[in-house]
Amino acid sequence: MKPTYSMQTVEVDEAVPKSRRVYFEVFGCQMNKLDAELMLEGLMQRGYQLVHDPEEAGVILYNTCSVRERAEERAVMRMTSFKRRKKEEPELILGLTGCVAQHKQEELAERAPWIDLIIGTREFDRLPDLIDEVRGESQSILATEMDSPLEFVRQRNLGPQPWHAFVSVMRGCDMVCTYCIVPTTRGKEVSRSPEVILEEVRRLAAEGVQEITFLGQTVNSYGKRLGAGGGLDTLLRGVEEIDGIHRCHFITSHPRFMRPKLIQAMADCSKVMNYLHLPVQSGSDSMLARMKRTYDRDFYLKCIERLREKMPDITLATDFIVGFPGETDEEFEESLSLVKEVGFDSGYVFQYSPRPGTVSADHLVDDIPLEVKKERNHLLLDALHTSGKARNDRFLGRTVEVIAEGPSRTDPTRWAGRARDHRIAIWPACPDDKAGSFAVVKVNRTSAATLFGERVDGPSEKPILPPEVR
Ligand code: SAH
Ligand code: SF4
Ligand code: F3S
Repeated sequence: MKPTYSMQTVEVDEAVPKSRRVYFEVFGCQMNKLDAELMLEGLMQRGYQLVHDPEEAGVILYNTCSVRERAEERAVMRMTSFKRRKKEEPELILGLTGCVAQHKQEELAERAPWIDLIIGTREFDRLPDLIDEVRGESQSILATEMDSPLEFVRQRNLGPQPWHAFVSVMRGCDMVCTYCIVPTTRGKEVSRSPEVILEEVRRLAAEGVQEITFLGQTVNSYGKRLGAGGGLDTLLRGVEEIDGIHRCHFITSHPRFMRPKLIQAMADCSKVMNYLHLPVQSGSDSMLARMKRTYDRDFYLKCIERLREKMPDITLATDFIVGFPGETDEEFEESLSLVKEVGFDSGYVFQYSPRPGTVSADHLVDDIPLEVKKERNHLLLDALHTSGKARNDRFLGRTVEVIAEGPSRTDPTRWAGRARDHRIAIWPACPDDKAGSFAVVKVNRTSAATLFGERVDGPSEKPILPPEVR
């Protein structure tokens, strides 16, 4: 079984007993990945070690996602595969954490009583204590309080790449998009203080982290309740002052909060990546109203215009949902036409999945046949690929600066890295390729998602090209 997200680990220390070896699978968004890293850090402080084979582990944890039905079912089914082992090995601890645990707590406790721990999205800091508590108990423990003051002081980066770290700036979501389960699983929006966040970034920089991704469900509404001077723009300007951090970006933004002050900070700060993920969900006003997205097509387009005024070459990514209840052919056509009108660099397309407990699942009929959802998914992805390819072709003959990440997953004779605008570049492996170092690649071929080229430099620990050349 392959973990979906592989955190850093060291060689298994044979002195660590099985009861202190933990296997972790992570589903869902970046916030779930970070939460898994934070949980692991708490466990490591108590002498636990991460292993990549569940057979070697005495504690098996699944950090789960509820956003679409498939993700939810996949996690529960994988966990079920340990049911028999739990019978033969009663000291094995099975824990389900994250959004499914939060959302389906009672149902899970009934359906899968052999799961020892069900820990929601705001109590995972208690994980090491809860494991101690549940050992030897026949009853499972539920920890799903929503107003628990989640507390963690992060000391280290456990992400898969030592030079990159996620930093959560806020948790929860105050929006009420009718299809979305996240406000239920993650609760109301709570922002961390800017001082605490920037201190964490400083610590990470001292450890060798060069790139930061700020995380929040609506990251650009950060600081809503913190008063003046507490917005995401303040954080971006704060990162600008931190030595060792060369790049920074943030996900996921909501169009409603893409304010001029933030756009100005993005344009002013040389470390802010030339990239924005701004989910639109649909190009049709009537659909956006039914989804309660709180903006219309025109508002979204004005937002893009303002961004391009300040950052003409900005890379724009988005999300669409197809097959939301009642989506007509005409409404869908407006999503297609929006792709052309904006000229997105990339995008994800999701087929609507009714989530029990959301407004759309409870009050609207999921009336778009699966075949139609699939067809629309296909057409929209095609349009996004065409748009992405045209945007990538502008790079032919140009050089891009990347942070080298490692051998390409599909072909180890080639290396991959990410440019400052989040584009992936691939080149034939060179002897001096080094993960985490900067490199310059001259582009000679493109696809919809990738730039291909040759290295034209030696490795460097620092950015090589002056900002204006990038
Ligand atoms: N907080 C982010 C994203 C949340 S979930 C935002 O507001 O944009 C990530 C993506 O999953 C969403 O952008 C949306 O496109 C998709 N999504 C959310 N709920 C869904 C559902 N019920 N069915 C299909 N796609 C969904
Ligand atoms: Fe879900 Fe909407 Fe909140 Fe995003 S803004 S997490 S789509 S409710
Ligand atoms: Fe999934 Fe929860 Fe993230 S539902 S997308 S893991 S916030």
